[in-house]
Amino acid sequence: MKGFPVAIKEDSTIMYSRFLQTCDIPEKETRIEPFTLVIFGASGDLSQRKLLPSVFYIFRDDVLVNGFALLGFDRTALNDEQYRTVIKEAVREFGREPFDEEKWDEFSSRMNFMSGNIEQDEKYEELRKKLEQIAIPNAGGRRNVIYYMAVPPSVTPVIVKKLQEHDLCKGEFRTKVIVEKPFGYDLRSATELNRILTDAFDENQIYRIDHYLGKDPVQNIIFFRFTNSIFEEVWNRHYIDNVQITVAEDIGIEHRGIFYEHAGVVRDIVQNHILQLFGLIAMEPPTAFTADFIRDEKLKILRAVHHMDDDYIDRFMVRGQYGPGKVHSKEAPGYRQERNVSPSSTVPTFFAGKFYIDNLRWAGTPFYIRTGKRLPKRVTEICLQFKRLPVKLFGRTCDKLEPNLLVLTIQPDEKISLRFGVKYPYSESQIYHVNMVFSYSEAFRIKIHPPYERLLIDCMRGDLTLFVREDTVEEMWEIVDPIISRWEENPPEGFPNYAAGAWGPPAANRLIEGESRQWITG
Ligand code: BG6
Repeated sequence: MKGFPVAIKEDSTIMYSRFLQTCDIPEKETRIEPFTLVIFGASGDLSQRKLLPSVFYIFRDDVLVNGFALLGFDRTALNDEQYRTVIKEAVREFGREPFDEEKWDEFSSRMNFMSGNIEQDEKYEELRKKLEQIAIPNAGGRRNVIYYMAVPPSVTPVIVKKLQEHDLCKGEFRTKVIVEKPFGYDLRSATELNRILTDAFDENQIYRIDHYLGKDPVQNIIFFRFTNSIFEEVWNRHYIDNVQITVAEDIGIEHRGIFYEHAGVVRDIVQNHILQLFGLIAMEPPTAFTADFIRDEKLKILRAVHHMDDDYIDRFMVRGQYGPGKVHSKEAPGYRQERNVSPSSTVPTFFAGKFYIDNLRWAGTPFYIRTGKRLPKRVTEICLQFKRLPVKLFGRTCDKLEPNLLVLTIQPDEKISLRFGVKYPYSESQIYHVNMVFSYSEAFRIKIHPPYERLLIDCMRGDLTLFVREDTVEEMWEIVDPIISRWEENPPEGFPNYAAGAWGPPAANRLIEGESRQWITG
């Protein structure tokens, strides 16, 4: 199959998208133009734990070009040498693999540091001069700069406005900006943040990171759905009884009490990671695998989420907060006992809820969502439960007819399993349910870039597919804002309502069991 575009294969009924890659186009290479990464908040927690270890490993794996330079900006009074030492320790501690001394020397020679207050105008002139000194031009003579906002959400708008005032967003440098979640605090603040960002940059310069989209099994969802006729044909309300998405964490809030007291579970996980999974599992096929086609389809599904009024929220949404308990047989404190948390906090650490999508594919099919901290184990799973057959032909009448299940496990074991019934050997008519499992690690013995690294590389390459678009961010807030306000206006009684190590409060089970179903992940 050569040439472009390809319309219809001569001998069959298979249609090809006119956007399809032809066979003579090689796989995407990780070719990156020279660029300078400017990190705001360069000595903060995010930079030390995640960002700089990831950049270092990308460098170590020879993905970065020779023309790579790094410029850290923070208020800490450090010189280049001291900054390198701080980050070296961080990479040693938080890096995913044993430290590579030789590569580190090469890497650190490209690291520069600027100390100062982000509100001072003169700092931005200093930044320009520094960039002129260290940024290596590409073949066309342009200097590529990526700004990374590793700062609290309230600080991002201040920096972006200053960059704009000092003409550092467009013009002399060819720039991109990476923004970390949370994107705002509610719809109003997200819209304001987007306005500030899009005033300063074009939308295609803006990379909003949701690290769930960098996980390979998450990306696989649409490949799996739209390449396999056995699943695609039954992926709808006619065959699927319900869909469940569980993002369970066994950890508590760790050192992030201040952040979590302002966020809570809905802002932290539901508004972003879960709604992204929801979009991928429910969306229509994109016209092609390109950033905007995919993002358009995700947006359409979010727009079709059934409106939830107060009465619906009270009936079908469950909140919880963990008290002291045991996780993996070890004592764990309650949320209210964590550092920087109010002893009478009403912030939820657990969410369960039922959603509907008002479109032809899904009308009437419930999507049950559940997430929480200090649950019995860490697991992210999407389960599709198929409808049961209307007649039972085999087994004893007292046996329950189990439904078929398709389970996509995103983490910690990346796998896909299909559950179905077979005849138990030598029995008369006994049905036994088995799982057919595809495991990523067994099937592919290749190294997959961790999500952060994958997303950074995509940004360096200019691929926006796995980043969240402005309109999608706002739509996700449209969905969760009513839940958050309803709960904030009506503080819960009886928090904490689940012990660390339990699967949330009893109401989470009642939500689904009351509808003659049960949580599959567990
Ligand atoms: C982050 C949340 O976005 O995702 C954290 O702020 C959460 O609270 C984390 O622990 C979960 O990510 P992962 O990749 O471990 O599932």
